This record gives sequence, C-alpha cells and structure tokens, in this order.
Amino acid sequence: MSRSSRPRTGPTLTRLRQAVDASGEVVFMTDQGGIFTFVNRRFEEFYGYPAQEVIGRVTPRILRGGLVPKEAYAEFWKTLLEGRPLNYAFANRTRDGEIVHVEASVSAIKDARGALVGYLAVQRDVSARKAAEEAFRESQARLQLISENVLDLFSQIDLDGKYIYVSSSYRVVLGYEPASLVGTSAFERVHPEDRQNVERALETAARTRTPRRAEFRYRHAAGHYVWLETVGKVIDDSHGRTTAVLSTRDLTERKRIEEELRQSHKLETLGSLAGGIAHDFNNVLTAILGYTDLVLAETGPTGQMREDLEEVRRAAASAESLTRQLLIFSRKAVVQPVLVHLNDVVTGLEKMLRRTVGEHVMFTIELGDQSGFVNIDVGQIEQVLMNLVVNARDAMPRGGTLTIATRTDGDSAHRHEVLSVADTGCGMAPEIRAKIFDPFFTTKGPEKGTGLGLATVQRIVETAGGRISVESAPGIGSTFTVALPRAADVPHRATAHEASTTPNGRERVLFVEDNDAIRAMAARALRRFGYDVTTARDGADAMNIGRAARVNADVLVTDVVMPGMNGHALWQQIRSAHPACRVLFTSGFVADPDLLADVQSRNLPLLRKPYTMEGLAQAIRKIVDEPPRPA
Ligand SMILES: Nc1ncnc2c1ncn2[C@@H]1O[C@H](COP(=O)(O)OP(=O)(O)OP(=O)(O)O)[C@@H](O)[C@H]1O
Ligand SMILES: [Mg+2]
Repeated sequence: MSRSSRPRTGPTLTRLRQAVDASGEVVFMTDQGGIFTFVNRRFEEFYGYPAQEVIGRVTPRILRGGLVPKEAYAEFWKTLLEGRPLNYAFANRTRDGEIVHVEASVSAIKDARGALVGYLAVQRDVSARKAAEEAFRESQARLQLISENVLDLFSQIDLDGKYIYVSSSYRVVLGYEPASLVGTSAFERVHPEDRQNVERALETAARTRTPRRAEFRYRHAAGHYVWLETVGKVIDDSHGRTTAVLSTRDLTERKRIEEELRQSHKLETLGSLAGGIAHDFNNVLTAILGYTDLVLAETGPTGQMREDLEEVRRAAASAESLTRQLLIFSRKAVVQPVLVHLNDVVTGLEKMLRRTVGEHVMFTIELGDQSGFVNIDVGQIEQVLMNLVVNARDAMPRGGTLTIATRTDGDSAHRHEVLSVADTGCGMAPEIRAKIFDPFFTTKGPEKGTGLGLATVQRIVETAGGRISVESAPGIGSTFTVALPRAADVPHRATAHEASTTPNGRERVLFVEDNDAIRAMAARALRRFGYDVTTARDGADAMNIGRAARVNADVLVTDVVMPGMNGHALWQQIRSAHPACRVLFTSGFVADPDLLADVQSRNLPLLRKPYTMEGLAQAIRKIVDEPPRPA
C-alpha cells in the first residue's frame, strides 16, 4: 500500500467516488500544503498519471505547464490560504508533456471543527475551446492580413448601399480610412453616370440572390475617378440582416491596356487608311503644286491672279503637311535619314519660325557648341521643331518668351544632341500633360488643332532612337526637350543645306509615272527646264518604248510603287541595257517597306512626293552631275 491518506472506503464513499467519476470532471484533493491526497479516474486519464504516482506529491510541480508564470501560482496559493474560493484557468502539462487548458474551481475542505484540512479542485478540460478560440483568432488575423495586403477590396453593404464593413485595402487602393466609410453610402462615390447601373445591379442581386457584376467609376479620396469592378452577392448575415458582400477590384490597369490596344488598333487602321490614300493624295498634291507652278510661271509678278494662285499653293502645302503627319505616325512615311547638326537645322528654319511665331512673342535662340551629328530625316526634324514652336506660340496668346536652345548632353560614350523649345505660356495641368502625345488629343477645338502635332513629334524622335520629355507648370510655361543620339559617323552624303543646284539641263529623261496628270505636267515642266523628255505609263510601257524607240536615256525617273513592274525592277532592266543610265526614284509613302529599304540601302536617290517641278528638275540635275558610281 502506498503511504496515501486516501479516504477509507465505505459504502457512502464508494458511491461518492462513483458520482465523482461519473461527472466527467477532473477532481482531486490536496492537503493544506498542496500535496495530492486524492485523484479521481478522470484525473488519471486526463493527465496520464496513475494515482499512486501523484498521491503524496506537490500539485504544481507535477502539473505546472511552464506557460503560467510562477507568480500566478503564488497568487493562487495566497487566495486559497486566505480561505477564499477560487476559479481559475490554467495551462497545465500532462505526463506526456502535452499542454492542456483547464478551468477549475477550488474550495477549502474543513473538518468538523472548521479547521482547514485541504482543498478540493474540480477541473474542466477547455483545451478544445481554447483551440477553437486560438483558431478563430488566427483566422481573424489571417483575414486582417489578407485584407490589408491584397489589392482587392472587400466590403459589406446593406440594401440601401450603406457600408457595414470595409476592408483595409480601401486605404491603399482608394485612399479612404475604412472606418470613415462605414455608415456612409457606397453609391455616393460612384460616378453619376454609372450610379443607376450600380443600383440596378444591387437590386437584381437582391431579387435573384445570385452574384452580380458591375463596372463603374468610383471617386478616389484624392478626387479623381478610378474604374472598379465589383462582384456582389446578397446574403442574410449572422445578425439576420440582408446585406450584400462585395469583392471589388481596381480596373485602372486593365482599362489602360484596353485603351492602349484600342489606340494601337486605331493607329493600325489609320495607318493602312493613310497608306491607301496617301499614294493617290500625294499624286494629287504633286499635280496641284505642279500645275500651279506652271501657271505661276506664266503669270505676271503681281495681280489678283497671282495672289489667288499663291493661295492655291498655300492650301496645297497645308494639305501636304497633314498627309505628311498622318504618314509619319502611321509609319508609312518615306524616311531619308542624313547626318546633320541640330544647329544647322535651327538656323536654316529660323526665318520661317520667326514669321510663324509673330511679333507679340519674344523669340530667342541659344545655340550650344555642337560638334556632333545626328542621323535623322531633315524634313522630319524640321517638322519636330515647327510643331513644338507652333504649340509654344499657341500657349502664349498674350505674348511671352519662346526660347529654342541646343546643347550636348551625356558622357563621352553616350552623347546626346539636345534640342529644347521653352515657352512662358499657359502650361499644362498634369491630367492634360498625360495625354498630349496621344494622336488626336487637342485642347484647341476642332477647327484649330488636329492633335497630331505631338504624336508626330514623338514618332519622329523615337524612330530616330531619341527621347522627348516635357516639363510644364500651369501658368508658368512648358519646356519640351528632344534628345537624339549622336551619330558615330562623319557625314558621307548630303548635309542639311546644300547649295541649291540650277534646275536646267539638256539630258534625255525617261519619266515613268502611272498618274496621268503628273506625267503630263512633269513632261511639260521638264521640257521648260530644257530636258529631252520621254514618258511612260508603267514599267512595261517603259520597256516597250526603250526597245522600240531606242531611247538612250541619261536618267530614268520612276515611281517606286506602280502597278505591274515596280520601279526598282524596272531600273534593273533598264540598267542592264543601258549601263550609263542614272536613276531617280519617287515615292509618296511606304507601301512595301522592303521595297523602299531596298532603294535606301543601296543609297539610291529618292525624291519624296509631293514634289514641286523645280524640286524635280533640281534632283535630276544633281544626279546627272554626280560622278558615276560603281555598279
Ligand atoms: N507648349 C505648350 N503649352 C501648353 N500646352 C501645350 C503645349 N504644347 C502642347 N500643348 C497641349 O497639348 C495638346 C496637343 O498638342 P498637339 O501639338 O499634339 O496638338 P494641337 O497643337 O492641339 O493640334 P495640331 O498640332 O495637330 O495642330 C494641345 O492641344 C495643348 O493642349
Ligand atoms: Mg500642335
């Protein structure tokens, strides 16, 4: 027998013990010093200690879990010694070392005379509840973590649209303190144009009890609207309220990509459209310009007729500029990069720019010491300068200062030639500035601006491997800065401003062009300049003439793009028969980039349409005067 002070067994006690065991609670007794005097069966099962292992030993030493601080035990004993009943929750340790959570009540056992003889403890296992609470806390924390870090927005609203719950992500995505939204109407921040849609979606969701989706604009705390997508479902929540739970997502990025896609589709369509019409259109313009010049040449130096003709010419020139811009940013333009100094470009255009800007604006030019060339199409860089200057002028209707400056930037390995155009005009708000490079974006009204200016500038600069940036402050002004990579080579061919050659000559020209008006006009004009001209409608026609009439042409002038045999194929045929023959290609747009690349890579001379008759004659003159090149 152990040295236990286990109560003697009698019929009453046995029954008592049976009752104690049947209660399902852990029950034990100790003496005044906390030494176990009795444990029930449930104790043995629960803690894993057989009675004989614990009887006669001190309770805390056995059960102490290590999770309850010593002081708590001290407090526990103190309360007990003062004779007060005690309810407590402890984390104890079983014999296997497992932590168990118990709730217990302890009361004093007194003898017949009222003296304290020990304590009775009844403990209930609350581990499961503890675990559930712990799991709940964990899941709460996880939810919190998710809602704070995920960029989706979660909320709960009542059927009037009032927020009941708002996730923390509202702060990150929409700038609102979640607590400040609760109780306010969700609809109130929806864009007025989208509000009806959203309200209707909620109604439907409530009626059908099926999830509903809506896209709408929602006001950010900063004031602007953000595209959101919400999926909501109406449910009865645990409080018996009928509410909608909403999962919402920021659509800004998707909308932006969609917009970009739309934009690029638009550009593509526009590109093929422009390409399609540009060929014809450039021919028409060439004819208008050419015939106007022919008539002008026979008109007196003054008079109404001359003025009217000058008007025709100006109109044709502005139509030409529009076609050119369209072609440039639909990437169908004929590009002829050459090595130029930006300073030369600015100087060459200065007079015209001054005229464009007008008297009310102070116009200054600050040229840096530029030693580097850039490789760019001269017409195009002039277009860049012109567009920027016109914009600067338009920004200063009441006058101001316009400064064109050039400089060299970057280290020796990555030199950039920089051109900037600064104005002291109206400037731009950030939301305007964000759109200025979009094609067709204009604030100038339909009659005044096409919105193609900066789109063209950007296309030109980027095609040349450069970058454009803008700094602007409303009411103060704007500065556009174009940085172009410095070209490695020294110039080997044309520079920006060559001495203009005389257009006249007596050489034999075979002029091939499928447009009747241009063909007839060019023949007339070139004959006026002294040339001996034979014309042909297309390649086959040209070959026939060549064979039949034995035209021993000095120069073949041919369009690159023609029905049937293209210009380059024609040139190869003619050259095999007449090795001394030179060629001048003309083209209004890039229908087939390969074809044009072929012409350009061989450095074959190319005259862009629309051209003037004088320009045509000069180009021919120049080719004839060049020393023969090796085949
Ligand atoms: N220097 C500037 N100062 C203030 N706003 C400018 C300036 N340059 C451009 N913008 C703004 O950018 C918009 C787009 O310019 P862009 O040159 O592309 O088109 P546009 O000048 O309106 O029309 P277009 O050039 O085709 O005649 C302008 O309408 C204007 O709002
Ligand atoms: Mg413009």
